[in-house]
Amino acid sequence: MNSSIARHFSAFKNELSGHYGFKPSFVFFDLTLGDGGHTEEALLAGCRVVSLEIDPEAIERAIGFISPQFTPLVIDPETFIGSVPQDFSWIIIRSNFIHLSSLVQKLSLPQIDGLIADLGPSQFQVLSPGRGFSFLLDEPLDMRLDKNLGVTAADLLAVLNEGELADLLALADEPFAKPLARVIVKQRQLSPITTTQQLSALVSRVKKARFPGRIHPATQVFMALRMVVNLERENIRLLLSQIPPLLSPNGLLGVISFHSGEDKLVKDFITEMEAKKILYAINKKPIEPSTKELSISQRTRSAKLRLAKKIT
Ligand SMILES: C[S@@+](CC[C@H](N)C(=O)[O-])C[C@H]1O[C@@H](n2cnc3c(N)ncnc32)[C@H](O)[C@@H]1O
Repeated sequence: MNSSIARHFSAFKNELSGHYGFKPSFVFFDLTLGDGGHTEEALLAGCRVVSLEIDPEAIERAIGFISPQFTPLVIDPETFIGSVPQDFSWIIIRSNFIHLSSLVQKLSLPQIDGLIADLGPSQFQVLSPGRGFSFLLDEPLDMRLDKNLGVTAADLLAVLNEGELADLLALADEPFAKPLARVIVKQRQLSPITTTQQLSALVSRVKKARFPGRIHPATQVFMALRMVVNLERENIRLLLSQIPPLLSPNGLLGVISFHSGEDKLVKDFITEMEAKKILYAINKKPIEPSTKELSISQRTRSAKLRLAKKIT
């Protein structure tokens, strides 16, 4: 396990136990295991936990962080044969959460009393060398959370036309989307843009911005590429529509997002479910991090938590 990178700070951990009312036998699904902070909170409260994670390295790390009194049954759905013990206490499934419904069916998993999706990469993935997420490192522009995905960030920069690049950059609200797209197309005619530092330098040049500032000038560009490489918006849409029938009466859905576009997808979904009298929103406005959380982790500054309950 690469333990030189500190454990990911789990946003809204207090809200989780408070709102979900964790208790023994509560069935909790953590759809984004990461470094396991939310999963651990539920395990410590005696819940039965199913954790999903797309990145095998993250699974190894989470098991290393979580108290050894909890031993998971780790399942790779591609190779798993047989059935899950009905009295399981913790299962980790190596899978994209877009397969949630079919996993529940295939593995005969119980109804869900509460679930959380904490979107995006973990700090470990961002800071881990060789993954290409960070403008602070110099390495190939990869950005795939799942190595089975076919397209890297460098591929996108190489093949998209100027208009497509501008649309991509606008996904993360990059105000310089159009001039940046123009310069990327010009630059790649001279030499391909394949590394984090090449891209970061190009963005700083176009934005005439310097770092250190409060926020690195390439933040939105890197975020937009990451969102597209990992099909993040498509994944959220696919996931949300599967959840309501899997929840038990009064079951709670929670989504933590880090970008206004993601938050809007979740908000619109909950509004649609309210109109159909399937779910109701616990909070009309998303919950934002406390001052204490902000003082511990700057990354949480854009975090938003939305909660909705299944109508019985
Ligand atoms: C923000 S981190 C979660 C952190 C975690 N809540 C904690 O407390 O440590 C998100 C995790 O979800 C995983 N992930 C992202 N998209 C996923 C998807 N579509 N399916 C399954 N896991 C995903 C990432 O690999 C990453 O490890």
